[in-house]
Amino acid sequence: MTTIIINIKELLQVRETSISKVSGADMAVLPTIKNAFLVIEDNIIADFGSMENLPEINAETIIDATGKMVLPSWCDSHTHIVYAGNREQEFVDRINGMTYEEIANRGGGILNSAKKLNETTEEEIYDQSKARLEEVMRLGTGAVEIKSGYGLTFDGELKMLRVIQRLSQNYPITIKATFLGAHAFPLEYAANHKGYIDSIINEMLPEIAKNKLANFIDVFCETGYFTVDETQQIMEAGIHFGLKPKIHVNQFNSIGGIQAGIKYNALSVDHLEVMKPEDIEALKNTETMPVALPSCSYFLSIPYTPAREMIAAGLPLALATDYNPGSTPSGNMNFVVATACIKMKMTPEEAINAATINGAYAMGISDTHGSITIGKKANLIITKPIPSYYQLPYAFASNLIDAVLIEGEIFE
Ligand code: NIG
Ligand code: FE
Repeated sequence: MTTIIINIKELLQVRETSISKVSGADMAVLPTIKNAFLVIEDNIIADFGSMENLPEINAETIIDATGKMVLPSWCDSHTHIVYAGNREQEFVDRINGMTYEEIANRGGGILNSAKKLNETTEEEIYDQSKARLEEVMRLGTGAVEIKSGYGLTFDGELKMLRVIQRLSQNYPITIKATFLGAHAFPLEYAANHKGYIDSIINEMLPEIAKNKLANFIDVFCETGYFTVDETQQIMEAGIHFGLKPKIHVNQFNSIGGIQAGIKYNALSVDHLEVMKPEDIEALKNTETMPVALPSCSYFLSIPYTPAREMIAAGLPLALATDYNPGSTPSGNMNFVVATACIKMKMTPEEAINAATINGAYAMGISDTHGSITIGKKANLIITKPIPSYYQLPYAFASNLIDAVLIEGEIFE
């Protein structure tokens, strides 16, 4: 099955040779081809180039992209798409003056979502979650990481991971699953942290590994949640079961989570709203991808990740949504890219690199996703006719997507 896209006004994120990530000053460069074609064979990018070199091919499908841009789909490396219900009331409570921390301290927040999740059937959670997954696919996301972490019980965590597995079996989008049992301490373990951590390590992890339900392990390393020592203990146990760490750090406080993540060779450290100079220093010359979540900063009115300082220090940066009911009820990567430009002063080139190839790296899939490279998956966004790709962040609330291809097929 061959598809050809012709007359592409500009083909973005073209990488002739496969790269795994871009860092520092290289992030400012977004290689493109103007007036381009792209060939898809068996769901894979088979060829691309300038229209003047268009080869003679018999294609079953021809897509005319006159005036339109084509780019690789967004790679959203941090989400909590599987959850039950919503937290609208907490949103209104925050408008009326309560803080995220105060809401959590009264038993709301993550524990509120955990209560809802444990009271909801697996079928109902699947139905609610698939609607969100379909929504983000239509918004141009072609690969997504999804975390557990709203169960906080053996049954609840396993239920979430089975829902993620079922989504991954039923949809063409690439899904990576992360076990986040260490998202918060359930009320009954408030005075017995060791008891809950024992349950994560000795009960949940072996069952998850046995059933191959997760690729990664995550911990919310934060004051009032998991300490650095607890985080290290859980990462170590995860690694023992073959799960690479990808952790929540520095959302509200800088307490050494980044250094702990690096010590355990975490694939990514995510959030990073509060960064000390030594945190930036620690990330230099490591394999750990820093991930910023600007729509979380937007929704909670907390600081934005200091992208300029990090890029100036030569670091890479990835962008993700954090789609979840409490801190970011949005999975729109287009908004994330725009917000990174508007609020974090990333250039459009940097933001697109961060949301494609670096996002792919933060899920361990940059050899198959995140750029226009022969042999990678044909997960593509075709924009509406636009004057230049600057429009993507500039027209920040417009939907500029005309079509989305996943595994070479248009997703309607
Ligand atoms: O990434 N920070 C921890 N976890 C989520 C939010 C959890 C919630 O409020 O439900 C986050 O922002
Ligand atoms: Fe998160």
